[in-house]
Amino acid sequence: MTSPSSRILGTGRGVPPRVLTNQDLSRMVDTSDEWIVERTGIRERHILDPALAASDLATEAGRHACERAGVSPSEVDCIIVGTVTGDCPFPSTAVFVQKKLGAIAGGCAFDLSAACAGFIYGLALGDNFVRRGQFRRVLVIGVEVLSRIVDWQDRSTCVLFGDGAGAVLLGPESDPKRGVLSTHLFSDGTYTEVLLQQAGGSREPITAEAIAAKRHLVKMNGREVYKHAVRNMAQASKLALEANGLDSQDVNWVLAHQANLRILEGVSERVGIPLDRFYLNVDRYGNTSSASVPTVLDEALERGKIKTGDLLLMTALGGGLAWASAVVRW
Ligand code: ACO
Repeated sequence: MTSPSSRILGTGRGVPPRVLTNQDLSRMVDTSDEWIVERTGIRERHILDPALAASDLATEAGRHACERAGVSPSEVDCIIVGTVTGDCPFPSTAVFVQKKLGAIAGGCAFDLSAACAGFIYGLALGDNFVRRGQFRRVLVIGVEVLSRIVDWQDRSTCVLFGDGAGAVLLGPESDPKRGVLSTHLFSDGTYTEVLLQQAGGSREPITAEAIAAKRHLVKMNGREVYKHAVRNMAQASKLALEANGLDSQDVNWVLAHQANLRILEGVSERVGIPLDRFYLNVDRYGNTSSASVPTVLDEALERGKIKTGDLLLMTALGGGLAWASAVVRW
């Protein structure tokens, strides 16, 4: 049975307890707290215990989302995980989560790859599944263990990233003016080389030579990414508002990918929404890629910032380049 819209029934996050501060980093590479704070707004990030994997964090986030929704994991009929740092190349991280959650009851579980936009891409898929009536309970998770693919000797990237997971459980909503109002997805393969992990796939399998040249680790052209992130997140945000007949004043909270504070300041200026209406956790989490949007949502709800009826604007951009926006009436 089709449904006019889908709604977020519950949210959750998984945050590793170990904190790595800028001071800690300044003992590992030639950097300083002042440089990192001024250029990125990041003060600390969380790092996952080496004995654990992405599916452990994702399961924690997914379990919280189910608990908050009052839904048993056995009732979840689809699990979508957005990640570029899954447990292994295959099978998907989502099937590990399915097993750990005890959510195996005839449903499906799969990963999608859209880097930092992975959560909003998953939200779009989940929303369409629910609207179409194909699935009733869809768990959408963004999870990253970026600490495993970062070059800890490259000061231009290692200061930016952190580990984490965020999740939402989607279900049908009968009021078309509530829930997920729209999603917009974009990508442009012209820019595959500005942010990528070169080795480790069929293009260049992992070899001793690839490892010696560090091609299995994150490579980024920071300036290029910065430019596209500001421009495209702003454009996608404006398009999302226009599509719903809304303008910037209607937005209560912007839940944007926490890439870095300067990118968010740029988006704020271009969209015409003051930065105090952006919920921020980049100072405490760093850039957690696909985990960042669901993590800010969960934290904002926990802190009582989001009220029933509030309008939420989500946007993210990452490697691909892939970017997206979504509008949600809470
Ligand atoms: N500590 C101290 N100095 C540093 C560091 C560091 N951690 N990193 C770079 N520098 C130095 C550089 O070596 C350079 O020195 P030089 O002038 O002697 O050559 C100087 O600082 C300036 O370097 P730039 O790279 O030009 O610095 P910039 O102002 O562009 O800031 C940054 C770099 C923060 C990465 C910026 O380009 C940026 O924000 N880019 C966006 C990238 C991003 O957030 N990516 C995340 C993944 S994608 C996404 O999530 C959207």
